[in-house]
Amino acid sequence: MTRKITKICCIGAGYVGGPTMSVIAKKCPEITVTVVDINQERIDQWNDSDLSKLPIYEPGLREIVQETRGKNLFFSTDVDKGIEEAEMIFISVNTPTKTYGKGKGQAADLKYVELCARNIAKIAKTDKIVVEKSTLPVRTAAAIKSILDNSGNGVNFEILSNPEFLAEGTAINDLFHADRVLIGGDDTPSGQEAKDSLSSIYEHWLPKERILQTNVWSSELSKLVANAFLAQRVSSINSISALCEKTDANIEEVSKAIGYDSRIGPKFLNASVGFGGSCFQKDILNLVYIARSFGLQEVADYWEQVIILNDYQKSRFVDHMITTLYNTVAGKKIVIYGWAFKKDTNDTRESAAIYVVDALLEENAEITVYDPQVSENKIYADLDYLDTRSPEENRKLLTVTDEPVKAAMEAHAIAILTEWDEFKNLDWQDIYKSMLKPAFVFDGRRLLNKETMDGIGFKYYKIGQK
Ligand SMILES: NC(=O)c1ccc[n+]([C@@H]2O[C@H](COP(=O)([O-])OP(=O)(O)OC[C@H]3O[C@@H](n4cnc5c(N)ncnc54)[C@H](O)[C@@H]3O)[C@@H](O)[C@H]2O)c1
Repeated sequence: MTRKITKICCIGAGYVGGPTMSVIAKKCPEITVTVVDINQERIDQWNDSDLSKLPIYEPGLREIVQETRGKNLFFSTDVDKGIEEAEMIFISVNTPTKTYGKGKGQAADLKYVELCARNIAKIAKTDKIVVEKSTLPVRTAAAIKSILDNSGNGVNFEILSNPEFLAEGTAINDLFHADRVLIGGDDTPSGQEAKDSLSSIYEHWLPKERILQTNVWSSELSKLVANAFLAQRVSSINSISALCEKTDANIEEVSKAIGYDSRIGPKFLNASVGFGGSCFQKDILNLVYIARSFGLQEVADYWEQVIILNDYQKSRFVDHMITTLYNTVAGKKIVIYGWAFKKDTNDTRESAAIYVVDALLEENAEITVYDPQVSENKIYADLDYLDTRSPEENRKLLTVTDEPVKAAMEAHAIAILTEWDEFKNLDWQDIYKSMLKPAFVFDGRRLLNKETMDGIGFKYYKIGQK
């Protein structure tokens, strides 16, 4: 038997909570979906009548919010009311890497998740299905269940794990056409009923065979493993890009040649300045931490190497820039195209640009940044967070512009750090004319055509090519 769900609450109105709930609201018009968050500013942005002010830039999202908001999709800071009214509660709060105490730098910080669980326990007066949407270490569901069962008001809680596999920049498409949905839960009759209830929501738009039911632990672990495998592919191809630069091999040709093998496949084989984003690094570190805590040293070392290689790729890029620019960038104007961790998102968490620019600033370079979606405040906040130098110094050495072509005037070099499509269509002839000569372009995303750039006169470097 399946309990019919009519009211959903999602705690956390971020990059996952916002898009996933918007899609559920669109696909399930009979369900009322309320997304709650303690961040008043974020909720105000979600409710702004000017849809360009939504807190998250994601292609296709505005249209869905416009269609559903105020009908069956609501955004609110009234967390308690959201919990009280809902039959099913998604926890979609952030789970960053711990910055203190045991597991610092590796383990997931579960304080936000625990706060949610305690709040649900306090507020709930009727039975609830609680769904872990956040990415959590294996066995977190047990901790949530223990909190709910021991401090609750005698109501029954079913805990499900339903990790999210969307990728920022393509979130809406990923949600509409998910390769699979994973639902982990208990095998008890009530556990099965809860799994089927959640499944019935996704069945509004996805074929049943793509909805996989597993036990809770498999579901939690699968999410970490999926991200670890994806990041591993990036680090694998990036390691080969370094080798290509030392030989006459071309990384693009190598990627294509191996990607044609149906056992390997073509995706996630683009060499770059390194992966970023809020998830890959944190989830792998989490896997490493779990493996190490079970005494599996070799397993931990194996996965940690994916991160080490990613850091190497970023520092290798900076070293190459400095060496090429005659071993010094001090006082040189360098223009950065792209700050987001990838195109079509305004998310900058763990973006390679932050680390590349920080290293260039350490060498006293003068930096100008252009990104089509990231605000000036965010760029400064990302640098200030590293605490390498004072906020005043960051503002003195780095300026942010909304005119990419003009910014190139008298620049020594340009570095492309995000693969925004618009960079392909800039007037590179004009840019070349206004730059100091030799005019260097360092393409960390392999976005531009080498022959064209060489033809214009640039000294053009593309990662993975001699
Ligand atoms: N971003 C992605 O691409 C992605 C993809 C898959 C999975 N995930 C996972 O999803 C989870 C959420 O990620 P995100 O990118 O949406 O994070 P986010 O930081 O964008 O959003 C989290 C939101 O939760 C809110 N919050 C924190 N504690 C709260 C509380 N006690 N009550 C109410 N609101 C609270 C914060 O204010 C914030 O707005 C993480 O575990 C992440 O690993 C993220």
